Amino acid sequence: MPSPTEPLREFAPAKINLFLHVGERRADGFHDLESLVVFAGTGDELSFEPAHELSLEIDGPFGVDLGLDPDNLVVRAARALAADVDRDLAAAITLIKNLPVASGIGGGSADAAAALRALARLWELPISDEELARIAVGLGSDVPVCLAGKASWMEGRGERVTAADGVPGVAAVLVNPRVAVPTGPVFKALKTRRGVGAVSHEVRARDVNGLVTYLKLTSNDLQAPAIEIAPAIGKALSELSRMPGCLLWRMSGSGATCFGLFEDDDAAAMAAIALERSHPKWWVSATRFG
Ligand code: C5P
Repeated sequence: MPSPTEPLREFAPAKINLFLHVGERRADGFHDLESLVVFAGTGDELSFEPAHELSLEIDGPFGVDLGLDPDNLVVRAARALAADVDRDLAAAITLIKNLPVASGIGGGSADAAAALRALARLWELPISDEELARIAVGLGSDVPVCLAGKASWMEGRGERVTAADGVPGVAAVLVNPRVAVPTGPVFKALKTRRGVGAVSHEVRARDVNGLVTYLKLTSNDLQAPAIEIAPAIGKALSELSRMPGCLLWRMSGSGATCFGLFEDDDAAAMAAIALERSHPKWWVSATRFG
């Protein structure tokens, strides 16, 4: 338990779908998914302090985009956890929103997962990881994998999360062309899909080249429909592909954020500088995955 003057801090890293295959639409309206998920060095920052009631202060470059939505996922996570353990809903939470909102890198889900992890500690709850994961599923498809917070296979609607071995750390650049792409319409516009169970889960890559070889057998099924809805995504991908040292370029989640995997950190840093210069309105971040 931190001292009253020292808030409990929790990092909420961006979630990246290295590939995302879509299966059948289920009876509950959601599609079955199969995805290899990793986490970036870039993310939102949250802090938590004891208080008599719940408050959420939002700051950071993308804070204004969240506004004062009372249904913010951080608040919903706090509410769900407090209800589950029958506890007063009390904490002063600060969210520094560094990630673009609704952009395929799980910002809201990462924040919700961070809130579950941190509040369980702040409130000193004797709660198991399995119990937290059960609450996470109720908050959204990406929250369970964000709760795990490490390279994982994500299946089902997102509720089945297992550790992914053999995924090396890699240099990467994230690019968001600043277009909003709602998830529902992207799934609706889906015409062709790989289906689930089409690829082996044996990655066993020693370096970025091995990972890229594996990933070239996969795709993001949501990329084509997302580009149809927001052509700027296609532009972001073609710009990434032209960067020296970029070995693979792809969209994450339902977009619009795209990522490039680079041969090393220097190539990623140079690409980020070039992309920021040529497209000052885009959000660009040189980072590492894993
Ligand atoms: O999980 P989220 O609330 O972001 O999903 C938004 C919409 O995307 C869902 O209502 C559904 O239409 C579609 N979706 C889906 N299959 C999934 C996830 C989302 O069809 N696995």
